[in-house]
Amino acid sequence: MTSELMRAVQYDAYGGGAVALKHVEIPIPFPKKDELLLKLEAASLNPVDWKIQSGLLRPFQPRKFPFIPATNVAGEVVEVGPGVNTFKQGDKVVTILEFGSGGGLAEYAVARANITVKLPPEVSTTAAAGLPVAGLIALQALTRAVAIKFDGTGSPANILITAASGGAGHHAVQLAKLVGNLHVTATCGSRNIDFVRTLGADEVLDYKTPEGAALKSPSGCKYDAVVHCATGIRWSAFEPNLSENGVVVNITPSPGTMVSSLLKRLSFSKKRLVPLMLVEKREELEFLIGLVRDGKLKTVVDSTFPLSEAEKAWERMMEGHATGKIMIDILG
Ligand SMILES: NC(=O)c1ccc[n+]([C@@H]2O[C@H](COP(=O)([O-])OP(=O)(O)OC[C@H]3O[C@@H](n4cnc5c(N)ncnc54)[C@H](OP(=O)(O)O)[C@@H]3O)[C@@H](O)[C@H]2O)c1
Repeated sequence: MTSELMRAVQYDAYGGGAVALKHVEIPIPFPKKDELLLKLEAASLNPVDWKIQSGLLRPFQPRKFPFIPATNVAGEVVEVGPGVNTFKQGDKVVTILEFGSGGGLAEYAVARANITVKLPPEVSTTAAAGLPVAGLIALQALTRAVAIKFDGTGSPANILITAASGGAGHHAVQLAKLVGNLHVTATCGSRNIDFVRTLGADEVLDYKTPEGAALKSPSGCKYDAVVHCATGIRWSAFEPNLSENGVVVNITPSPGTMVSSLLKRLSFSKKRLVPLMLVEKREELEFLIGLVRDGKLKTVVDSTFPLSEAEKAWERMMEGHATGKIMIDILG
């Protein structure tokens, strides 16, 4: 197996966007201790993939060039590394590959067993591959930072979700409505208003209108929490719309967000800004897959491209106008 070649898409340096992606044939990797070799069937892209290429996380990511981007993948276990006894050949799984090592735009990839989840027969690899980062960050924004409970024991709350049509936002709206006692206001572009309503949002604001830019709830409610999936919105737009203890969870934190968050803590206001980075938790990915199996959560697909057209998917992701997730059909 290890001497065989596989198709992959990689880049050799920072920058260059879609045109810098190269189609190559390279050896199939092999699994080490606690790892699995997967034959990939589907992958999804996340904005962090192009941000890594742009050099935003240099010098930490990528660890080295050439680099095969994408980390959210699903496929079949074809080889089990030493020390793994929870998976076997033939299992269908979903996983997050290491961000620094990537590997998702390829026919095979090595996954860490401890963040890999076995798929139930009802959940296809295509249905699962869009879930890891976008679903987990939505869940973590709602549960950790905003302390929302899925067992019905939490207090009712008014939530604002920005960029509700995107990969993270459309999962956040569905998850928030599953809680049962949350009133969800969502923002998106005009073309996606009906879509976001079908996800369950109680009211929807077009972010390009004055009311949308002001984030003002049509029903006049103040937000107890904001799951902020858009970028470029100033604190001054959130502040007047927050309840006394309102919290804004920013999932695209910059150094400026960190400073603002600290300053808010030092001020007399009880309103808070919380920067949130993803924590890779297998139990939470399992929880999300369970919701998909039960028909309670769905990853909506913006577009699907075969691996041979990965640069088209990359371009689409860089434009920032996806409705749901951009998928790669590795078998296509
Ligand atoms: N902290 C973490 O670990 C983590 C994890 C996942 C994502 N993120 C970050 O979260 C952000 C969102 O990720 P994503 O995957 O959801 O992105 P995405 O799928 O690319 O989001 C695209 C969607 O956002 C909408 N949009 C853009 N600007 C908007 C605005 N000002 N108001 C309302 N909607 C807006 C677009 O609508 P139009 O086409 O109509 O403009 C489009 O439908 C990114 O910055 C990403 O890097 C962070």
